[in-house]
Amino acid sequence: MEECVFIDGVRTPNGRAHREKGYFRKLRPDELLTCAYEGLFKRNPAVSPESVDAVFVGCANPSGMQNDIGRLGWLASGLPASVPSNTLTNQCPSGMSATMHGARAIITGEADTIVSAGVEDMEKVPMGAYIDFPPRLLKYYNGADLLMGATAEKVAEQWNISREDMENMAVWSNKKAAAAKNSGKFKNEIIPVMGLDDDGREILVEHDQWIRDTVDVAKMATMSSPFKPNGVVTSATASPLTQGASAIILMSRKKADKLGLPYTYKYRMGALAGCDPTIMGIGPVPAIKKIFEKTGLSPEDIGAIELNEAFASQSLACIRDLKLDNENAPFDRVNVWGGAIALGHPLGQSGARVLVTLLNVMKTEFPDERYGLASLCGAFGNGAALLIEKVS
Ligand SMILES: CC(C)(COP(=O)(O)OP(=O)(O)OC[C@H]1O[C@@H](n2cnc3c(N)ncnc32)[C@H](O)[C@@H]1OP(=O)(O)O)[C@@H](O)C(=O)NCCC(=O)NCCS
Repeated sequence: MEECVFIDGVRTPNGRAHREKGYFRKLRPDELLTCAYEGLFKRNPAVSPESVDAVFVGCANPSGMQNDIGRLGWLASGLPASVPSNTLTNQCPSGMSATMHGARAIITGEADTIVSAGVEDMEKVPMGAYIDFPPRLLKYYNGADLLMGATAEKVAEQWNISREDMENMAVWSNKKAAAAKNSGKFKNEIIPVMGLDDDGREILVEHDQWIRDTVDVAKMATMSSPFKPNGVVTSATASPLTQGASAIILMSRKKADKLGLPYTYKYRMGALAGCDPTIMGIGPVPAIKKIFEKTGLSPEDIGAIELNEAFASQSLACIRDLKLDNENAPFDRVNVWGGAIALGHPLGQSGARVLVTLLNVMKTEFPDERYGLASLCGAFGNGAALLIEKVS
């Protein structure tokens, strides 16, 4: 078995998925992917695109502009046709699944250098667009119960998560994200991209569009649920609609040593898990449990955890169920630079984004810790978790 190390990872800023207000409203998702590839190769000149064995790209909705975006986005970036690409979907964990596939190819010796990526533009290819549920599925599930907001409401009810706790989490997610942004902590992970401001003027975008420097707590308390009459999940406690791309270079340790490339963390283990699709937000629980069971680790052994905040309800349920951190925000090791409620959640991109953030958080805030963990839930009952380990 080979060891797979993380050489580098980057992402574009996350833009709002809005036809008139989104920073990247004039860019296509493949163009965002190009920005991530260009940024990655530019700052890693020792890794030529020709030397990449394969590109794995996660996307939650690979239809329309995102149809086979792994292959078409690579070719449209002017990158070598000799490098094979694979578009894959696992809903929100797609970018993480792409990384697992890449890492496993390296660990088995089938590849030396892999680029894994994630991309989504929820404005150009809206969530659920072109979906056609198999009619037989509706024998087992009510279609309305499978919608993301409905699952978040159900998790809030079943795990007894109060609206107050969710709003507190949303406030802290924004606070931590704003503090990280304002102190330049995202500089190493974000590749600035030219975009447009509200008035259509060209600007260099260096930060995520959704982060709120201050949260209007009074307004938040008056918002109603778009998902359920008298529901408790609101726009403020849900991840917003977003666009963005992220890319990572994975390499066998042997090859990295041969090229003299530095690295700090290696891929230790990945796990996919399934759960009841009507409470899909709970997906990280079985996925992280698999990792703990197989490694013998427990939450105390983990330095930083990046847990994708699809909704505050499901994040709190996972944190409490697995005792990952305090019962309520602020958290000590979960999403210490904020989470998707503030940063945004471009579905297929987020699985790669949480890994890129995890690598930076570990290096910056937890340099002495050995393990870092990232996890996401995904539509229709998908869960994924990935453990990284400091190289000794
Ligand atoms: C919740 C959701 C439907 C809202 O979408 P939207 O209607 O486009 O709404 P916006 O995000 O623009 O926000 C609606 C309003 O809430 C306000 N708002 C959002 N967060 C707020 C906060 N923290 N404090 C105060 N106001 C807030 C916005 O400013 C906006 O108000 P305005 O219209 O007065 O400007 C959408 O974001 C969504 O579906 N999110 C979940 C995505 C998802 O399911 N992802 C997959 C998870 S697995």
